[in-house]
Formats: sequence, C-alpha cells, structure tokens
Amino acid sequence: MAKARKRPFIAGNWKMHGTLAEARALASAIVAAAPELAGADILLIPPFTALTEVGGLLAGTGIGLGAQDLFWEDGGAFTGQISGPMLKDAGCRFVLVGHSERRQYFGETDETVARKVRAALRSGLSPIVCFGETLEAREAGRTIERIDAQLDRGLGDLAAGEIASVLLAYEPVWAIGTGRTATPAQAEEVQAHIRGRLEEKYGNGPASCAIILYGGSVKPSGSYSLFKEKNIDGFLVGGASLDAGAFAAIAAEALRADREEK
Ligand code: 13P
Repeated sequence: MAKARKRPFIAGNWKMHGTLAEARALASAIVAAAPELAGADILLIPPFTALTEVGGLLAGTGIGLGAQDLFWEDGGAFTGQISGPMLKDAGCRFVLVGHSERRQYFGETDETVARKVRAALRSGLSPIVCFGETLEAREAGRTIERIDAQLDRGLGDLAAGEIASVLLAYEPVWAIGTGRTATPAQAEEVQAHIRGRLEEKYGNGPASCAIILYGGSVKPSGSYSLFKEKNIDGFLVGGASLDAGAFAAIAAEALRADREEK
C-alpha cells in the first residue's frame, strides 16, 4: 500500500541553544532556504526567550513556530512555568510534550504528558507528543510494550476528533544526541505499530491521517531512506537543526523521497 499523501513535516527542536542574535541568524538562514522547501511543512522550535523574535521573522513565510514545553494550567501562581494561552499569544501553533529530556531530567511522566496534551488542545495548540524506549528496554525486547504504555497513558482519553490535532514523534532515547540513528527498518517497525494502535483506538481515517515523526540523530545522510518508509511522515531534528544548511538538506531529502512516491 502506498504511503498516505501528506506533506513532509520537518521540525527543528533547538533545545536550550541560542542567544537572540544566534536565533535571528539561524531563523533568517532557514527563511532564506524556504522557497526550495515549499512542498514541506517546516516548523521551528526555539527556546521560550526567542519565540517572539523568531516568530517575527517567520511572519508571512509559511514556516510554523512551536515551543518546547508548556504547563498544564492556563495561568496562576506557578513560578517559572509557561502556559498554553501564553504560547498561543506568542505566535505558536505547536508545542512539544513529553520530550525524553523532559522525562529524564525534569520528572515528566505519562500522567503529566496527558495533562499537558489536554492543556495544549484547550489553547488551540497542536501538541507533538514524544515517546520512545531506552536502550535497556530495547535490549530486553520491551520496545513495543514501552511505546504502548506511553501512548495509552500519555494520550489519555482523547476523542477521535481531537487526535486529528495531535502529532506524534517516535524518538528512541538511545538515538537522541548520540549520533546513532535508528535504521529505517527499526523506525518503521515501531511507527507502523503506532499507526496500528491509533487505528484500533480511533479508526482508520484518523490513523492514516496522523502525522508520525521520527527523531534521533537525524542528519541529511539517511533522511531520504528514513522518509521512504511508509509510516515516517517527517522528522523532529535536534542537533542538525542548529545548522540551517543541514536542516534544509534534511527537508530537501524528504521532499526528494516524497516526489518519487507520487
Ligand atoms: P538529535 O537530533 O540531536 O539526536 O535530537 C533529537 C531530538 O531530541 C529532537 O527532539
């Protein structure tokens, strides 16, 4: 069966990198490359401090703006937190939820992920829900079990209509920032399983329309063959997204694979 037709979705998670001057330079370089990437959906996810600045540069370019996290309450005495309405006001359309670094270093759990997914949807933001197994789980043959648990608890009790606004990102922990990318077959096996799981829960329509990204040491080399896989709809890029040339090349490789599909 052919891959469901969707535009390649390429997101750059800048993590905790960038002064305002660096963010401006990086966003401007990506905007300059945008005309060549017109067939793809491009999303930049800078740190909170650079959201407004980057958002200003992206205005009218078609490139989207996203944030790296949000709190589950909409406002109140929660020192240090940022809410969905604040992100929406800053120009965001997307927000990462449950990135493995948040799970690893900041106590994020599937339960807090579910609350944040709800908060994002309530604010009109599309959450990009991240999940993935550790090396230990993979080596113990427990990858699918881990993914299922994260998906079931992290997505909570969303309705079929709500899942249309949610993106998923499979990011095996052992591939993040390690230079070790999952092979296309490894990523496809998990992502096909995820789509199957969505189908069981929400039906065929929402499952085939769902955007499922792969993340974990994505580089220009290798992104063509990853994108060729039926259930890989795009990438969540970390380190390589800090280099405008590499980020644009990843999008170009996905577009090349996408054009051949047609
Ligand atoms: P790297 O591409 O640096 O491995 O990071 C992946 C990631 O965590 C994207 O969210």
